[in-house]
Amino acid sequence: MDVLGIDIGGTGIKAAVVDTLSGDLVSERVRVPTELPVTRTALLRTLGALLDQFDWRGPVGCGFPGVIRGGCVDTAANLGPDLPGWDLKGALREHHGIAAYILNDADAAALAEAAFGAARGQCGVVLVLTVGTGIGSALVVDGVLVPNIELGHAEYKGKVAEHFVSNRTRKAEELSWKQWAQRFDGFLRHLERIIQPDLFVIGGGGAKKPKKFAEFLRVKTPVRFAAYANRAGIIGAAVGAARAETAGTGRGAG
Ligand code: BGC
Repeated sequence: MDVLGIDIGGTGIKAAVVDTLSGDLVSERVRVPTELPVTRTALLRTLGALLDQFDWRGPVGCGFPGVIRGGCVDTAANLGPDLPGWDLKGALREHHGIAAYILNDADAAALAEAAFGAARGQCGVVLVLTVGTGIGSALVVDGVLVPNIELGHAEYKGKVAEHFVSNRTRKAEELSWKQWAQRFDGFLRHLERIIQPDLFVIGGGGAKKPKKFAEFLRVKTPVRFAAYANRAGIIGAAVGAARAETAGTGRGAG
């Protein structure tokens, strides 16, 4: 099934049509910059323009950088205060006539990596972390996603973890890759003590060049880097929508 996958992020909104059986992008990938703070009106306008650009009224999957329950936005830490409490799924139906499946962006990335990428066929507990404007996290247990895990908001070193180890922080504090990797490694070890995963998968736009920092990671748990880097959000959103269409929606997303 072909699905339009959309990945809403703190710096850009990305979209492409995805063949959900193979995980391949079957259209060009379009990216429009995110203007912060994001308002409901502006986001609806951008999503409408993307639908028009793809001339698309078929199934849509949409990754969102916050907690999503039943298609409604619960949190949107890095986008702005206008969005929490909003029925995004309902608004897309009302304004653009589409039935979109909305899910957390890291959950989307994890679905893509579990289906086709770095966590394909992996048994046990996989903890996926995405490094970007924030830190996304997703837990996959024997191939099944546990939605809305928010480890980027755990307290770490007296701070909200993502304020200490995100890609935005690396740039804002002008950290070298080594300095940033040592911080990130400390966070991985912290998570390892609490969750004891069998595998970490590290993805997101901020981790798309593992050569720059992989050598500084000392954590014991095996680490793999995402196969899809910053395409995982698009692919996983589409995969989530395709599954929801055939099986009905589960807890969390919608
Ligand atoms: C949000 C998460 C999201 C992550 C990455 C965090 O601030 O709370 O839901 O997955 O950023 O975008």
